[in-house]
Amino acid sequence: MTAPLIDPFHRPISYLRVSVTDRCDFRCVYCMSENMTFLPKKELLTLEELDRLCSTFVQLGVEKLRITGGEPLVRRDILKFFQSMTRHLDSGALKELTVTTNGSQLERFADDLYAAGVRRINLSLDTVDEQKFADITRWGRLPQVLRGIDAAQKAGLRIKINAVALKGFNEDELFTIAEWCAERDMDLTWIEVMPMGDIGNEQRLDQYWKLTDLRARLAEQYTLTDLAERTGGPARYVRIEETGQKVGFITPLSHNFCESCNRVRLTCTGELFMCLGQEDMADLRGPLRNHPESDAALEDAIRAAIRLKPKGHDFDYSRQSVDGRVSRHMSHTGG
Ligand code: GTP
Ligand code: 5AD
Ligand code: SF4
Repeated sequence: MTAPLIDPFHRPISYLRVSVTDRCDFRCVYCMSENMTFLPKKELLTLEELDRLCSTFVQLGVEKLRITGGEPLVRRDILKFFQSMTRHLDSGALKELTVTTNGSQLERFADDLYAAGVRRINLSLDTVDEQKFADITRWGRLPQVLRGIDAAQKAGLRIKINAVALKGFNEDELFTIAEWCAERDMDLTWIEVMPMGDIGNEQRLDQYWKLTDLRARLAEQYTLTDLAERTGGPARYVRIEETGQKVGFITPLSHNFCESCNRVRLTCTGELFMCLGQEDMADLRGPLRNHPESDAALEDAIRAAIRLKPKGHDFDYSRQSVDGRVSRHMSHTGG
């Protein structure tokens, strides 16, 4: 038996998020600047290398794999990677294979994702207004995403919508978005905007809409019941009694949830980030490439990295300034 991955704060690490590309076909204003420089393609791990890395994590007890980006579905041949992970679902070692996507390519991929064993997906969508969608994503178009949603539901994929709460942007859509999700039987999670990466002229503090406020607004019209349920993720859930739907809140700023963190993040170049909100990372590409004959060095490097997992992030807007910011973009570590 291999010993499970346990960090210095006694948190078992059973969840790996893998950013398979830093590229994206959208340019969401809170995430990227309009003219982003992306990694040269030769820096990327190959799909075979990603397979070997992920399989090693599974071997060490990781039970949930989430494929992220950038936009994971724009990476060439990415379906092959999903299909190669199916064997870990079949063996029972992996309990869940899932993806976080902007939905742009879903129409094309939905059936194949389902066939590869994906059952739930998270889809990022901050507005249901066509013009606002084009404004916030710069390059995205809502009808394309809606076709993706339809295809995914038809394929049997359960969808959770992730909406970043943005002051002055989607405040007026609080109820519209909730009802839109309820009608389509989709779960919904609101996320507080985090200070990650340089995004050009946009200002984080102006964007920040505290979820405690959002929740209080929801409660003016709906009856909210707190749910004890945890998915192992940072979200706290309520049920809206009137619609029966579940709404999650991810509140890195207004309520720190790091004590129950169960995840680490792998980038497309083989860096392992132990926390979304810290700069600490370990290089896994070296041990991977320098030891093709065995995974022992890679396993040692992973264990050594987990021993360095920090207690939590330091994001903070409370003093009317942005503290604890990290220099990399969300698309680098994959959210
Ligand atoms: P479930 O499998 O549904 O529990 O999803 P999840 O919450 O693990 O993943 P999801 O992709 O829905 O996460 C949504 C967003 O929450 C991410 O894109 C991040 O913005 C944020 N988030 C997730 N995990 C963390 C974390 O450990 N720290 C912080 N600060 N934010 C996180
Ligand atoms: N703060 C919070 N969420 C962000 N996302 C991207 N950048 C940020 C940020 N700075 C979200 C996307 C997507 C998920 C992967 O992360 O909207 O839902
Ligand atoms: Fe792309 Fe997601 Fe960033 Fe939007 S938030 S630009 S969809 S990676």
